[in-house]
Amino acid sequence: MPATRSYDEVVRNIRGLCEDEHDDIAKMATIACELFQGFEEFNWVGFYRVVDDANLKIGPYQGSHGCIDIPFSNGLCGACARTQETQIVDDVNAIADHIACSASTRSEIVVPVMKDGRLIAVLDIDSDHPAEFTQQDAKQLEAILTASF
Ligand code: SME
Repeated sequence: MPATRSYDEVVRNIRGLCEDEHDDIAKMATIACELFQGFEEFNWVGFYRVVDDANLKIGPYQGSHGCIDIPFSNGLCGACARTQETQIVDDVNAIADHIACSASTRSEIVVPVMKDGRLIAVLDIDSDHPAEFTQQDAKQLEAILTASF
């Protein structure tokens, strides 16, 4: 696990590509791509979109297939949607409420995506390495999302 992961280049790329872009799906696709390409320790990067007051549906992502529907009641993505707070799990095998999309995933971070004061999606990142994500990642990812939506 890197002590500090620099998001500078990824932030520059996202800012450059998404400048003046108003389409949320286009921005989600670009952010997922830049994060996935930017960090080899990320094995899945993607968005689950809020489709009603109790359900998430898969949005733009990079990596192997993700499940299509996640209710707010299930998994880490659901917990993030319910609490609107970033979730970090060092060992996904140690928690019961985790939806396994890839058997190789060891740790995960899920960050809420807010727009105009309401939740529109969550950003989910998985890693094959245990304890890959820190509060520093949370801060950086939250800043990217706040600046983008
Ligand atoms: N692990 C997530 C499900 C999504 S996949 O990781 C792509 C969860 O527990 O909500």
